[in-house]
Amino acid sequence: MLSDKDRIFKNLYGLHDWGLEGARSRGAWDQTKSFIDKGRDWIIEEVKQSGLRGRGGAGFPTGLKWSFMPKDTDGRPHYLVVNADESEPGTCKDREILRHDPHLLVEGCLLASFAMGARTCYIYVRGEFIRERERLQAAIDQAYDANLIGKNNIHGWDLDIYVHHGAGAYICGEETALLESLEGKKGQPRLKPPFPANCGIYGAPTTVNNVESIAVAPDILRRGGAWFASLGKPNNTGTKLFCISGHVNNPCNVEEEMGISLRELIEKHCDGVRGGWDNLLAVIPGGSSVACLPQPLCQDLSMDFDTLRELKSGLGTAAVIVMDKSTDIIRAIARISYFYKHESCGQCTPCREGTGWMWRVLERMARGEAQKREIDMLLDVANQVEGHTICALGDAAAWPVQGLIRHFRHVIEERIDAYSANAKLEGAVTEQVAAE
Ligand SMILES: Cc1cc2nc3c(=O)[nH]c(=O)nc-3n(C[C@H](O)[C@H](O)[C@H](O)COP(=O)(O)O)c2cc1C
Ligand code: SF4
Repeated sequence: MLSDKDRIFKNLYGLHDWGLEGARSRGAWDQTKSFIDKGRDWIIEEVKQSGLRGRGGAGFPTGLKWSFMPKDTDGRPHYLVVNADESEPGTCKDREILRHDPHLLVEGCLLASFAMGARTCYIYVRGEFIRERERLQAAIDQAYDANLIGKNNIHGWDLDIYVHHGAGAYICGEETALLESLEGKKGQPRLKPPFPANCGIYGAPTTVNNVESIAVAPDILRRGGAWFASLGKPNNTGTKLFCISGHVNNPCNVEEEMGISLRELIEKHCDGVRGGWDNLLAVIPGGSSVACLPQPLCQDLSMDFDTLRELKSGLGTAAVIVMDKSTDIIRAIARISYFYKHESCGQCTPCREGTGWMWRVLERMARGEAQKREIDMLLDVANQVEGHTICALGDAAAWPVQGLIRHFRHVIEERIDAYSANAKLEGAVTEQVAAE
């Protein structure tokens, strides 16, 4: 269990002052100038040493991503874009940073922008986050007033931060759709390459990072990359915000060590599964995009990127959705499929057509109104969507369906059997009534 001294987010629950004074009392904006004085390469190297992997879902190494930005400018400005779209179902961690510890993010923006030669930073906030956007703006205003950012600030790196409010589309969390939306266009993902580091917003070098990835950076520099790397497991280091929802006694957000066991996470922080551990049916460990895992696989499950990937699931955003045995797992996955059908931007045929197709078949399967051979047909469609689209929304739609079939095929078959037995029974009763 993470000890209090290793916590980065000391105001996760909003019990203390979110403002500049409160943030400073918790260590924010401390030594910031000295990090800038040490230079860009030092910052990137420390972040690399820390082993930090992006907290937006894909887990790409943050220091490496920063190093992809051109060292010198070819005349085009560099940009940092912070992804605060947080729309993955089950995920509610960036929101807590925005409203309870926004100065960690603002300080992180300054340091990351400096490391990448950016003088402008945009923070793209989810459309529904109105109070969060106001709080973030207030923190940015405080930072300007205290001359921590802006022109001729005390840190010696001019930086302007702009908050941009989205309109509530899930797809605008995908980094290139986000850039399109920022440019004032329809939020539709771009083909890659070129990658944003070469050609991002306004055709200029850009790095897009998640809120949590940026907000942990100042503490990594303050305490050292080696400290962060000493927490968690090799290649899966540091602390992580987990969001646990669903059938637990006390749903919560908590900062824990990467690689904590699922059982410890649920029993120590959420007062256990509703009805006890044996009442657990399955978990979706990383937000709705990843495959569910049935109870036997949850027993000694380490919550980290590599372990979950080996199990053909994923840590994603670390939004753990717990389902007890009262859950109709087919209906639950059908509902998730509906979400992806609704949020598909429609550019690619496999995603546009496949998401609706998967949803409709799952709706029938949830009623048992299907043929058993359709299970493999559904799997085939999911496999054809996965990896054949412009952005990862296609994968995100396919993985939950694949997980359902991989682990709960028997439930689908039983539902189909029950439906046809009932239909036969009803037919027999009707015939009998007609005969009488
Ligand atoms: C459909 C879709 C939605 C996404 N939504 C978010 C989001 O809300 N927030 C986020 O940080 N990343 C989201 N991502 C991941 C981003 O594309 C990008 O990888 C991430 O912001 C990079 O930040 P990181 O390297 O710090 O993780 C999404 C990706 C896809 C495919
Ligand atoms: S995969 Fe789906 S959401 Fe992504 S670009 Fe294609 S149609 Fe749009």
